[in-house]
This record gives sequence, C-alpha cells and structure tokens, in this order.
Amino acid sequence: MRVIDLITKTRDGKRLSAGEIEYLIQGYVHGKIPDYQMAAWTMAVYLKGLSEEETIALTKTMLHSGDTMDLTRIQGVKLDKHSTGGVGDTTTLILGPIVAACGIPVTKMSGRGLGHTGGTIDKLESIPGFNVELTKEEFIEQVNRIKIAVAGHTGNLVPADKKLYALRDVTATVESIPLIASSVMSKKLASGADRILLDVKVGSGAFLKDLDQAKYLAQLMVAIGNSFNKKTIAVISNMDQPLGEAVGNSLEVLEAIEVLKGKGPEDLKELCLVLAGYMFVLGEKVQTFQEGQILAEEIISSGKGLAKFKELVEAQGGDVAVIDNYDLLPKGSENLQVCSPEAGYIAKINAELIGKASMILGAGREKKEDKINLGVGVRVLRKIGDKVAKNEVLAEIIHDNPQKAEEARRLILDSYQFSPIPVSKPKLILDVIL
Ligand code: URA
Ligand code: CA
Repeated sequence: MRVIDLITKTRDGKRLSAGEIEYLIQGYVHGKIPDYQMAAWTMAVYLKGLSEEETIALTKTMLHSGDTMDLTRIQGVKLDKHSTGGVGDTTTLILGPIVAACGIPVTKMSGRGLGHTGGTIDKLESIPGFNVELTKEEFIEQVNRIKIAVAGHTGNLVPADKKLYALRDVTATVESIPLIASSVMSKKLASGADRILLDVKVGSGAFLKDLDQAKYLAQLMVAIGNSFNKKTIAVISNMDQPLGEAVGNSLEVLEAIEVLKGKGPEDLKELCLVLAGYMFVLGEKVQTFQEGQILAEEIISSGKGLAKFKELVEAQGGDVAVIDNYDLLPKGSENLQVCSPEAGYIAKINAELIGKASMILGAGREKKEDKINLGVGVRVLRKIGDKVAKNEVLAEIIHDNPQKAEEARRLILDSYQFSPIPVSKPKLILDVIL
C-alpha cells in the first residue's frame, strides 16, 4: 500500500476500504506516516467527505489506537453524556446527579476546556478540594457505591485523536463532519459506557453554525454508536446565545447548584430536563421521553438531585459547605457592568464572543498548558428577545484585572445586536435523532 494512492483516492471522491483506513491511522500514530501526508489526507476528507462506512471504520481504528476503559465491573447499564462544546454549558453538573439519583450509573469522563468553550473538569475544580484525578479502581468503586463519578481521562485513551486533532487544529480541517464524528465517538466508545447521550450544539457559540450540518453530524454519530451496539441518542440544541446566565468556572458551579435547588435560569433548566428525559429512556427507567422529563422534574423538586450532587462532591474530596455558602467558591474581586448602548429588543448575542470575553478574563485557556482563573467570568443577564432600556445592565463581568475587564466589556458589547421591533425567544431544542 502506498500512502499517496490512498490520499489520491479520497481526493478523487473514491472510497477507502477498512483495511486502507487502518493502515493510514496506524501508520500515522506510529510515526511511519509524516504530518504532511496526513494533513493532505485530512484536507481531502474535509473537501470530499467520507461515507458512513468509512467513518465507522475510521472510528474503529482510532478507538483501538490506545487503551480502552473496561467498566464491566460496574453493575447496571452505564450512561455517558457528551456535548460537542458550548458556551456556559453547565448541564453535566446538573444531569449527572439527576440521573444517578435514580440509580443509573453515570460514568462521566470529561475533558478540560479549550478555546472559548469550558470543560466540566475545570468547573468542578473550583470546588475547594475536589479531586478530578481518580484512578481506574477509585472510579469504578465510586460508581458502584454512589452511581456517579466525574474524572479526567486516565491512561492513554485514543492517542490517534490527540495527534489528529492537533494536526487538524493547524490545517483548517477541524470543521469536517466525518472527522468530528469519529473524534467524538472514538473517545466515547473507548470510555466504556453502554449507552450514550449526545448534545449536539449549533449556533454562534458552537463548532457548527448551521442546522443541516448539525443534523448530519448527529445522524452520523448515532449511526456510529448503534453500529458498535451502544444505543445512542442525539439532541440538537441551540447555542446562538450562552446557556443560562453564567459563563466561567465557579460561576457555572453556582448556577448548577441553583438549578438543582429548583431555581436557576429557565433555558438551562429546560435543556437539562430534556436531556435527562432521554437519559432515562436510554437507562430504561421509563418508556417515553415525556415520562423521563416528569421524573427529572421530580428528582429536582424532591431535593434528590441536590443530595446526589452533595454525595459526589463529598466522595471526591470537595467541600460540601459550598452548596449552602457560595462565598466559599473562588470569586474575582471586582465587578464591571456592561450597559446597553441603546434601547430596544435584543436580536442576537454572539455566544463565541462571550466565550472569548470569559477566556480573556482568565476563565479559559488558549493553549493546553495555560493556567486558568476559576473565579472570573461573565453573567449574561439580558438575552435574546428581552426588551432593554438605554444604559440598562446587559451583563456583569467578574474579574481580577481592570484592563482585561475592559477588553472583555468591549467584546461583550460587540456580541449584542438590537432591534427596534420585538424579537421572539429562540427555540432551544431543535431536533432529536433517535
Ligand atoms: N470535539 C471533539 O472531541 N472532536 C472534534 O473533532 C470536535 C469537537
Ligand atoms: Ca451557564
């Protein structure tokens, strides 16, 4: 086999066999195929696409490029939930405890935040003492005991993705749907859960800005999951504005606790109930999504979700006192208000710019090695459809550095667009692929 022939085939829209795809990926991971040839192939994929069959073969060879988690010692049907990345997306911190409170094992292996999107692991670290580095043994023991654990990836999971993603990142090939699908699903499948719920984000704060593309990605990922006998459901949700109010690590933890207390922003709560509804279907707790949603509401209103969150924090060494005393969470020392430059209805909020503002404050990282500030971020107080007066507060910046706060303020102002006539609130749930 010659690599150049495989690149040529993909470039010309011809199909590769599973063996040819395996040869490419194995060769790349083991350093036998150079970056420039792999870069040419990923660009060919970006331009010509891959068939579903090729994407499944790619996922399979990536999945087996390193260690896989064996979770067979965890009793019951194990669920994992994954979001394709959004701004202010606090859902995992809320959903995990809700689902686990019903006795369904939640094995959440999560990443750190990169770019303008935040990571669950970083958010949890804003709880003093919370340990995200569990060994495999600790992870399994904890899920058997309290039905939930949230930890960073351990071991050498999907090295092919680490290498390929870094290459895609610098060759303008991140936004290829078959490459995103195989990247996400290889990691999910390697993490060992039995059933997978995907939250595919679309809009100004997401990788994909277009609904048709998001549907294609969702269908492809569901097909991949099902082809490995891991039942998968994808919910497509709107990321045209940040989810909830809070964007930033400790701010989002606080917001998650509020939702578990039956309070918190409506949009965040709505998405959590929908996602939980489908997780209960996947976990065979209920027959229909509607029953699942009602069950999720009961778990919140009875306080069982909050109690499970507390158990999770305690089990991983965190200070449970934060639940009743938010002052124990890290918090930037200063506040800066962002006031509306005009009167009218809010027509658009560019969520990516809000994510970038939060990153500039120090809540996110540009490079993997960057250290983050857990106490800073943005509270988005006025959202699409709201009527505002001139000089009314649109958002609040929580910071430690006035210069960075001013930079963030300008980005946030840029992210808002106004309309003189009423604007309806955007639909949050756009589609579900079963
Ligand atoms: N998230 C991933 O894990 N991989 C991608 O390719 C894109 C988003
Ligand atoms: Ca939020």
